[in-house]
Amino acid sequence: MAPNAFAPARLGALGLRNRVIKTATYEGMSPGGVPSDALVEHHRALAAGGVGMTTVAYCAVSADGRTFADQMCMRRETVAPLRRVTDAVHREGGAASLQLGHCGWFTKNAALSTWFPRGPSLTLNQYGLSAGKPLALAMNEGEIAQVVEDFGRAAGLAREAGFDAVELHLGHGYLLSQFLCPATNRRSDAWGGDLGGRARLPLGVLRRVREVVGPGYPILCKTNLRDGFRGGLELEDSVGLAKLLEAEGADALVLSGGFTSRTPFYLFRGRRPLAEMIDAEKSPLQKLALRWFGKKVIREYPFEEMYFLPQAREVRRAVQMPLVLLGGIVSRENVDRAMLEGFDFVALGRALIADPDLVRRMESDPGARSRCTHCNVCVAEMDRGGVRCVLDGPRPA
Ligand SMILES: Cc1cc2nc3c(=O)[nH]c(=O)nc-3n(C[C@H](O)[C@H](O)[C@H](O)COP(=O)(O)O)c2cc1C
Repeated sequence: MAPNAFAPARLGALGLRNRVIKTATYEGMSPGGVPSDALVEHHRALAAGGVGMTTVAYCAVSADGRTFADQMCMRRETVAPLRRVTDAVHREGGAASLQLGHCGWFTKNAALSTWFPRGPSLTLNQYGLSAGKPLALAMNEGEIAQVVEDFGRAAGLAREAGFDAVELHLGHGYLLSQFLCPATNRRSDAWGGDLGGRARLPLGVLRRVREVVGPGYPILCKTNLRDGFRGGLELEDSVGLAKLLEAEGADALVLSGGFTSRTPFYLFRGRRPLAEMIDAEKSPLQKLALRWFGKKVIREYPFEEMYFLPQAREVRRAVQMPLVLLGGIVSRENVDRAMLEGFDFVALGRALIADPDLVRRMESDPGARSRCTHCNVCVAEMDRGGVRCVLDGPRPA
């Protein structure tokens, strides 16, 4: 029988009050890299709204792992402000996870310690053009070893900050995903080639994080089912990756897709908010590029409820470990269906940005559904004073 999504569940050694997770959605609430009061309130409200676990988004494991200069980065000084977030979430009866990532070459951060950003292989970085970072170099052995150490150190600090779990970002075209993707990892050494070679860094990161946090502490991995472009990671390899991560002791996989530099809206589906993206863009050069080439390079994908389900089923068939279904889950009906399909948890992004109290409503009303229209303005404007739903009306001055 399918589990009740609204009854307590276990993730590793952690007890959760239900099986609904707020997935990582970049909050834009860490000016200067410091978690703000707004971030505390954002996650408190989600916990008050009933989520089993909320995920604080996209924390870089090192200063050079940031996509934007204002992004949160795990340092000792970040622990105290993050402790305020986890305390607030715990007081509301929820659990908190921290998403840890490294952007690789996908950066527009001018304040890097090296002139060129680093990734698996030499590449152009159009996204970094306005920051004077249009080219990225291949990492050497020392730099790869440093990334592994940085993930371990950041996970240790996350635990110190009171997080109940960490989520390693292996998807969406950031560093670990760049290593996994055949088109962006053209290395001929032990860190490239077949899936075993391309997965060596992500698996090394997982191993190191496990050493630091110890057994039982939940480590989730957010992975791509498909990158969404020719030459990218395909389902066959993502199923293989799931088996490798299961064998290495990951506690759960959050199944996503898309490559931010190539197929950003493969992640989200729904409306392409080009006008709002142009409006929100701070760099005049990037604004112009979006105006001229936006329609051509940013493809639109129609929204469907539970849009990753068909591909996620293939992973479900291949592994026994807990799986989190993500992508277009907007209603109690979707949540029940995910349980019937054999998924252990569901993760919701936009539906909970629109309706932070949705889980409480879903618990008592089988007809409950989010008001989100997948207009994706929250995506276009996330870095404009904090992520929010446009249906709430104009942003307060
Ligand atoms: C405003 C916004 C910001 C996002 N930022 C992140 C992020 O920092 N890290 C991440 O892994 N995914 C991010 N995502 C993607 C979501 O985690 C999720 O994969 C996607 O929104 C699909 O889920 P949904 O249909 O429930 O919204 C973001 C999504 C939105 C809407």
